[in-house]
Amino acid sequence: MPEKYRRPQKSNKSILEAKHTAQKLAFGPLSFQAIIAMQEFKILEQIDSAKDNGISAQEIAKILNISEYTINTLLEIALSLEIVSLKNTNYILSQIGYFLLHDEMTKVNLNFVQDICYQGAFFLKESFKESKPIGLKVFGEGETIYQKLATLPAQAQKSWFDFDHYYSSNAFTNALPIIFENSPLSIFDIGGNTGKFALKATEYNQNVKVSIYDLAGQLNKAKENIQNSKTFERIFLQELNVLDQKAEFKETADLIWMSQFLDCFSPSQIITILQKAQKALNPNGCIFILEPFWDKQPYKAARFSLNHVSLYFTCMANGNSKMYSFTEMKEYIEKADLQIEAVYDGIGENDYTLLKCTKIKNL
Ligand SMILES: C[S@@+](CC[C@H](N)C(=O)[O-])C[C@H]1O[C@@H](n2cnc3c(N)ncnc32)[C@H](O)[C@@H]1O
Repeated sequence: MPEKYRRPQKSNKSILEAKHTAQKLAFGPLSFQAIIAMQEFKILEQIDSAKDNGISAQEIAKILNISEYTINTLLEIALSLEIVSLKNTNYILSQIGYFLLHDEMTKVNLNFVQDICYQGAFFLKESFKESKPIGLKVFGEGETIYQKLATLPAQAQKSWFDFDHYYSSNAFTNALPIIFENSPLSIFDIGGNTGKFALKATEYNQNVKVSIYDLAGQLNKAKENIQNSKTFERIFLQELNVLDQKAEFKETADLIWMSQFLDCFSPSQIITILQKAQKALNPNGCIFILEPFWDKQPYKAARFSLNHVSLYFTCMANGNSKMYSFTEMKEYIEKADLQIEAVYDGIGENDYTLLKCTKIKNL
């Protein structure tokens, strides 16, 4: 029999499960859009409010004033995906359904995939082939998503910022006592975005001055957030495209902070950025890098999410970066003639890693 017609030898449970998983992948984009439709129509909310007794498709259709065809079709998908189960003819929310409805991380990820990545993901192959974010064209012309953030449609912009802030913001609180151990008086926050870190750092320490370096669009947003804060006099905004070979930091700092920043660049760009950053350090200064590394994640769900975020970088963000492993980042740091002086794992709720890097002494 030709190879392609040969069936798996054993028809056991694991083979059937593998086939089921393969179908989940084959229909994955349709399942995803069905979840988005259920979210839009608020179908799962009705099932959740019905608690243990559940609720029938007809009742949901009546309450929501939506056709029974819509409710039945979507709930049959939800059954297949184990988002709901049936108790006689009533639907009950499962644990998976509960997470879709109530878990912040799941909601942030769903909205990010729908509003930022979904349409552009169609161009993933081309993006890999050309090392460019070809999917970004769904939002118009642009080399990277960072140059377009300020002009994205409102819903897409909200989903991007919700996604970005959800992951890094809660790590900042844990990181602050560590980075202030040596009482830095000046900090550069490279890729400082909307100023969240600068605000937290200047509130945490009464003496520190923070300069946010970023692209113009993001600095305008940062300005809006900072201008009415109590610490605005100690926060400075500096426009800088780190990829511009001629661009240099005009001053020096005791500490350079890069949070969720280096994953926006290719390995060779990371090395160049780190080399440039270390030239802007005061004597005995250090660079702190905050990243979620996929090889340091204790939970499967987190590793799965990070590896998928890499595809956003490919088709939407820049076409040449990804979520890196600690092993990869360590290599780039060392190639930039820096040494990792300390590694702090488990920072924030999402297991970020904080790396303290210093210049190699005898260089
Ligand atoms: C993923 S966000 C991280 C934001 C923030 N540091 C945090 O932890 O939430 C990456 C930031 O890097 C900035 N960025 C990307 N490319 C850049 C470039 N070439 N030069 C300067 N900033 C850049 C983006 O504008 C964005 O604000």
